[in-house]
Amino acid sequence: MRIALLCSGGDAPGMNSVIRSVVRTAESLGHEVVGVRRGYRGLIEGDMQELRSRDVGGILDRGGTVLLSSREERFKELEYRERAYMNLKSNGVEGVIVLGGEGTFKGAELIAEESGIPVIGVPCTIDNDVGATDYCIGYDTALRNAVDAIDKIRDTASSHERVFIVEVMGRKRGFIAVEAGLATGAELILVPEESFPKEMIPEEIKKAKEIGKLHYIIVMAEGYGRAESLREYLLSELGERYGEIRATVLGHLQRGGSPTHTDRIMGMKFGEVATEALLSGERSGFIAYRDGKFYIEDFEKAGEYKDIDWEALRLNRRLSS
Ligand code: F6P
Repeated sequence: MRIALLCSGGDAPGMNSVIRSVVRTAESLGHEVVGVRRGYRGLIEGDMQELRSRDVGGILDRGGTVLLSSREERFKELEYRERAYMNLKSNGVEGVIVLGGEGTFKGAELIAEESGIPVIGVPCTIDNDVGATDYCIGYDTALRNAVDAIDKIRDTASSHERVFIVEVMGRKRGFIAVEAGLATGAELILVPEESFPKEMIPEEIKKAKEIGKLHYIIVMAEGYGRAESLREYLLSELGERYGEIRATVLGHLQRGGSPTHTDRIMGMKFGEVATEALLSGERSGFIAYRDGKFYIEDFEKAGEYKDIDWEALRLNRRLSS
């Protein structure tokens, strides 16, 4: 089988491990892989070239994706998708593996339905928000990056007895905020899944300072709100009576850097399972990981709600007091 491989949407550390795994698994079983550059944009433009085992050497420790990625709006239009299908067929492609999140999988489902070419997805997003799978490639590295950064911010927060609002990624969901907040002992974790009233925050800061806390660190998911607007609100309510108030947006530094061992190893496993699924005749779906096992799920399940770890939030409230 000739397999096309692409990454779409936000890059995720560990994608390169998946790429290496797909290429080498396919080659070891006597099959071929073509790499598509820039995700769905490359499909539309026919930008693809053969990838051999030697081409994917030395990439395991690299962040980002060697195949490049894009958020290609044109793929929502049938006219451009048909162009992509023609390119796949004229390149002799008989199966596709796509790396990305829920948005990417919507496109993947359409390819399988409309072109008849089988498509398998591998969940890759630092937000970890793909339904039906406990794990998405990139999440562990993003957590490491966020934890490192918040630890550093705490040094200044303590030395200057400040209130800090640290905004972490998570467009719709609070997975990074919950775990990074717990791991760094944040005084407060704000996530879109919980409507924690901002009116309660000044009182919480006051109580913490009165029991002798030097700093007050709020880890806030971007899906809850913007750090700067919360800072302005707190300033208007408290002034600087309980310490100067600063806001930091961690932004894209969370998404970069060398992948952790977890993202590398999970990337290898996901890549092998995805390739074998395609070769064994699966026609449409993504690889999900639950309780230590891999499953193939319908693409539409990627949009299912997956809950955050409420127990972690509860534990943080108890331990950070
Ligand atoms: O989906 C991953 C993610 O990093 C989100 O956490 C964030 O909201 C978004 O991508 C940022 O996208 P971009 O890199 O296109 O600005």
